[in-house]
Amino acid sequence: MTDPLALDPVLGEGERSRLPFNVDLPHDERFRAFEDHVLAGGKVEAGDWMPDEYRLNVLRFVEMHANSELMGVLPERDWILRAPTLRRKLALTAKIQDEVGHAQLLYRVAEDLGKPREAMIDDLLAGRTKFHNVFHYPTRTWADIGVIAWLVDAAAIVAQQALRESSYAPYARTMKKICWEESVHIMHGRDVVVTLAAGTVEQRAMVQEALDRWWPPLMQMHGPRSEREADRDLHWRIKAKTSEELRQEFLTIYVPRVLELGLSLPDPELRFDAAAGEWRYSEPDWAELRSVVTGHGPASQARIGFRRVQREESRWVRETILVPTGAAA
Ligand SMILES: [Fe+2]
Ligand SMILES: [Fe+2]
Repeated sequence: MTDPLALDPVLGEGERSRLPFNVDLPHDERFRAFEDHVLAGGKVEAGDWMPDEYRLNVLRFVEMHANSELMGVLPERDWILRAPTLRRKLALTAKIQDEVGHAQLLYRVAEDLGKPREAMIDDLLAGRTKFHNVFHYPTRTWADIGVIAWLVDAAAIVAQQALRESSYAPYARTMKKICWEESVHIMHGRDVVVTLAAGTVEQRAMVQEALDRWWPPLMQMHGPRSEREADRDLHWRIKAKTSEELRQEFLTIYVPRVLELGLSLPDPELRFDAAAGEWRYSEPDWAELRSVVTGHGPASQARIGFRRVQREESRWVRETILVPTGAAA
């Protein structure tokens, strides 16, 4: 169960403006007080006054995270029926249920910021909002399931652990629960990869091939380097680390873990530069990243199309349950 405080009800516009957060001050002073509060490490609750820019930035961030959790189950879903043993099937099903749960929690956090869930799903299906690049690619073999649960979830948890300190309190609280579950996903993924790496020649080749295919999208996943000073999400402490800091952290933890299994990584430039204290790597293909996250990835349209069909098929459920008050005879 998540902390119920993470699930504050949606507050109407009028109600929000009357709630306390230096509400008696003129706008400019209130803005400065808000900024002082946030920059000094203070937290913001859903009902607090916040500048529109802050609200929109948190919303954009959380909405993309929610979309990614929702769309991220589709590559794995394809393998529930094909999982090699009952134990693997149960573990994969449990992971997928967790991820859908993450989407539910995050959509609720986003809803509290004032955007209805239906509008978020509309935007996702129309391609107006994005989800993470890695979920735009197909899963070709069972080894993909291991590599995704281990390394995609690992790359995600590096970012998500830093978000537990987000200035937006409902998001920070939700991330604590999500991080617990992600750490179990990583154990499940690593177990699949270790089993294959210690298996037959064919299994070993299969996991190496999956790693070779997933590595470029993994290196793109945190996004291109950006200036810390120019990043408003960092300024407001909505997030804590730059994309390059997250990528470096991911490489520091996971490159040795991949190599200790006797697997290799498909980047001849990849090495730790001890003098500079950071990883060197071939420049990721940022044009591919931009193309993929705007709906031009190899599986983008199939995934969005699948969600469209699901939404239509479940429309009658929503229409039956969400009857406006007073409409029932
Ligand atoms: Fe998740
Ligand atoms: Fe996960």
